[in-house]
Amino acid sequence: MRIAIIGIGNVGSAIARGLKGKSHQVILGARDPQAADVVALATATGATPMLPAAAAAAGDLIILALPWGVAESAVKTLGALAGKTVIDCMNPLGMVDGALGLTVGHLTSGGEIVQGWLPEAHVVKTLNQVGAEITAKNDHLPHRPVQFLAGDDGRAKAACATILADLGFEALDAGGLAKARLLEPLAMVWINQSLFRGKGRNWALAAIAPQ
Ligand SMILES: NC(=O)c1ccc[n+]([C@@H]2O[C@H](COP(=O)([O-])OP(=O)(O)OC[C@H]3O[C@@H](n4cnc5c(N)ncnc54)[C@H](OP(=O)(O)O)[C@@H]3O)[C@@H](O)[C@H]2O)c1
Repeated sequence: MRIAIIGIGNVGSAIARGLKGKSHQVILGARDPQAADVVALATATGATPMLPAAAAAAGDLIILALPWGVAESAVKTLGALAGKTVIDCMNPLGMVDGALGLTVGHLTSGGEIVQGWLPEAHVVKTLNQVGAEITAKNDHLPHRPVQFLAGDDGRAKAACATILADLGFEALDAGGLAKARLLEPLAMVWINQSLFRGKGRNWALAAIAPQ
């Protein structure tokens, strides 16, 4: 698959590292494709750096790994992405009542808002639920970590499930895109433990059941 990652920060670079050697053509969508850190990531992973709109045009599947605050303006420079699968791994974070929290929820979600910006694309919410380090590498964990996915298009979800498996996750279908309303608060569970409850960043959620 030709996978374009828009935003090459913690999450975008983790996905690129996790997909190294997994038979995908990875394109790094960066505002400065010549920047030293982007070139170093491209060299380390075999990915190709491009400007964001060019990367999105070249990819069959687009991964949005942008800060929520810039997401709308950045996404709207990428074109319609008609018919393409778009993974939204962003959490709509901001200060809520003086603490880090979700700025939308209950009646909508970041995933549904992204779908509203890209009505012709197939948006799938996933890769938002654990820290970037776990996405980059998780084969040291005693259980396969789970990553839920939510989306309205079955083929798009199947493509995303393949990528999740390539990244070492057990992919569990959470249902339609409105279930992003569950997955974004789930990310807050991980964030709360990691940032505010002393658990650190080297852990993940797993789905375990009797054999
Ligand atoms: N960090 C985690 O562990 C984690 C885990 C799950 C989900 N998430 C979510 O994933 C998203 C990304 O988080 P992150 O930690 O990877 O953020 P980050 O490290 O700050 O990286 C964000 C990236 O977006 C790029 N960017 C900013 N404005 C842009 C624009 N207008 N056009 C194109 N690219 C732009 C930045 O590029 P420049 O370097 O050029 O500024 C940077 O590469 C967030 O929504 C976050 O909630 C984060």
